[in-house]
Amino acid sequence: MAVERTLAIVKPDAVGRGLTADILSRVHAAKFKIIAIKSLRLTKKQAEGFYAVHRERGFFGELTEFMSSGKAVVMVLEAENGIAKWRETMGATDPAKAAAGTIRKELGESIQFNCTHGSDAQETAAYEIGYFFSGAELV
Ligand code: RTP
Ligand code: MG
Repeated sequence: MAVERTLAIVKPDAVGRGLTADILSRVHAAKFKIIAIKSLRLTKKQAEGFYAVHRERGFFGELTEFMSSGKAVVMVLEAENGIAKWRETMGATDPAKAAAGTIRKELGESIQFNCTHGSDAQETAAYEIGYFFSGAELV
């Protein structure tokens, strides 16, 4: 297994509900290293670019409205097998189907308001990290 970096987001639902510190403590408990972190509010256009792979899906409009509805915390996490490991820490997309102890199971409200994002593969991680962070922010 290799050390990998992944792009994680505390989504606007979780920031708005005051869950940022809780989610960051889970990042630390799972032994991720935070390589970079910032708080920002995405524009609708930025959310559309970020989730471009989903542009044909029925939920694209709702998803990009939601992701641009308030502040989010974006971060680059690093760990051994980090991409899959962060997705395991988050749990399944739908909180109702997520495993016990995961972020989405314990904190998520619905398939849309599911608190966190995580890259799903090496290529998407590279695209998503580059979307938010420059080289100098990642040293
Ligand atoms: P994410 O990209 O945010 O980490 O989530 P994911 O891989 O687990 O799920 P994905 O299929 O990539 O969906 C992206 C986000 O879109 C919202 N969604 N809404 N209304 C719906 O049926 C629906 N399905 C997905 C969720 O916020 C999901 O995380
Ligand atoms: Mg996804």
